[in-house]
Amino acid sequence: MTTNVKDEIDMAQYPYIDKGLEGIVAFSSSKSLVDGQKGELIYAGYNIDDLARNATFEEVCFLLWHERLPNETELEELNKTLAADRDLPEEIYSYIRNTNPDSEPMAVLRTGVSMLADFDDEAADISEEATYRKSLRLTAKMPAIIAAFHRMREGKEILRPLKEGSIAFDFLYMLNGEKPGAKAEKTMDICLILHAEHGMNASTFTARAICATQSDLHSAVTGALGSLKGPLHGGANTAVMNMLKVLDKDTDIEAFVRGKLANKEKISGFGHRVYKTYDPRARHLSAMAEGLAKEVGMEYLYDWSERIVKVMKDEKNIDPNVDFFSATVYYSMGIQTDLYTCIFAMARISGWTAHYIEQLRNNRLIRPKALYLGEKNLPWTPIEDR
Ligand SMILES: CC(C)(COP(=O)(O)OP(=O)(O)OC[C@H]1O[C@@H](n2cnc3c(N)ncnc32)[C@H](O)[C@@H]1OP(=O)(O)O)[C@@H](O)C(=O)NCCC(=O)NCCS
Repeated sequence: MTTNVKDEIDMAQYPYIDKGLEGIVAFSSSKSLVDGQKGELIYAGYNIDDLARNATFEEVCFLLWHERLPNETELEELNKTLAADRDLPEEIYSYIRNTNPDSEPMAVLRTGVSMLADFDDEAADISEEATYRKSLRLTAKMPAIIAAFHRMREGKEILRPLKEGSIAFDFLYMLNGEKPGAKAEKTMDICLILHAEHGMNASTFTARAICATQSDLHSAVTGALGSLKGPLHGGANTAVMNMLKVLDKDTDIEAFVRGKLANKEKISGFGHRVYKTYDPRARHLSAMAEGLAKEVGMEYLYDWSERIVKVMKDEKNIDPNVDFFSATVYYSMGIQTDLYTCIFAMARISGWTAHYIEQLRNNRLIRPKALYLGEKNLPWTPIEDR
């Protein structure tokens, strides 16, 4: 007899389906603490404020991978390895030269990372030692994919990494064709630090779920990139800039935001699953956005942003997240809007790989359940009778 399972289920047994897994603790981790009440972010023991003020991105990578700060020799060694590994196999440059210049940069980055597995002798080796070496290689190589694609689509010569300076330095060089000044390098470096790790966010969860099947690191990072790309996650920084770009000096910003809220639209760069107060990363980015926008004569961007922040607070009591002010920071640096999520990925690779290794050490297949509410025992209907 045909039955709808819904009629058979005692729904009282399922008073609450955790749509979005909010508040579910599925792992233990020593990588980061996101305190949504206090608005505090800790990477392996160190407050993000201290790291943003004092560390380099490479130092933060070491911290996330080893859960301690490196000494001078260790950092020098890591910097050297990360610099030496920056170039891509010829085949990947060839893919980038021949791909559709209108592709989304995140899609090209996702394909490029997946292709890197084909040219990595250790791709299928999921031992911790090989995974660590691959983590370094992926962290080193991602900036070259992003910059090469951008220059190809602009009709410019693709630049190979100089293999000198920091990841931030070489990335800005490959992107712009000139060595960045100390301030631009420092700004990019701080952005990478602020985006490096953030607990069990959607892309890190994706990476851990892929790792848990004992699949390899390139697969996990490729999946994580797909997850980060969405506008509810890393894609939000690009969406923020696209929103700011439609404004002009005559726009009534308050009415613009209220109109969107009345239409039940989300305002990109606001809200967070965990932070119920100001995102600590947004404080640093807000200060950087204010200074940089002024420097390049685009104060209006910061002014509009602040007005949006105020309406969102008044109307919804929702604060900006990491993506809101990073958009103005990157725009003021002259970086094309659709590259912002790739820069997020260039940083988050450190967190993804650190979590992958942590998952490997204490692995169990990740497999939640869904409550089936469909029918069962339907009689088979031959195709010609449907
Ligand atoms: C981040 C985000 C996906 C978290 O989602 P979530 O925890 O599932 O929260 P919800 O989407 O259920 O939102 C809860 C409430 O806040 C509102 N809200 C959350 N973020 C909002 C936003 N950016 N703009 C307007 N309203 C928002 C929702 O409309 C909802 O209101 P309601 O209860 O009156 O319906 C969500 O805040 C969002 O979509 N933000 C915009 C995208 C973004 O910036 N993402 C980057 C995150 S770092």
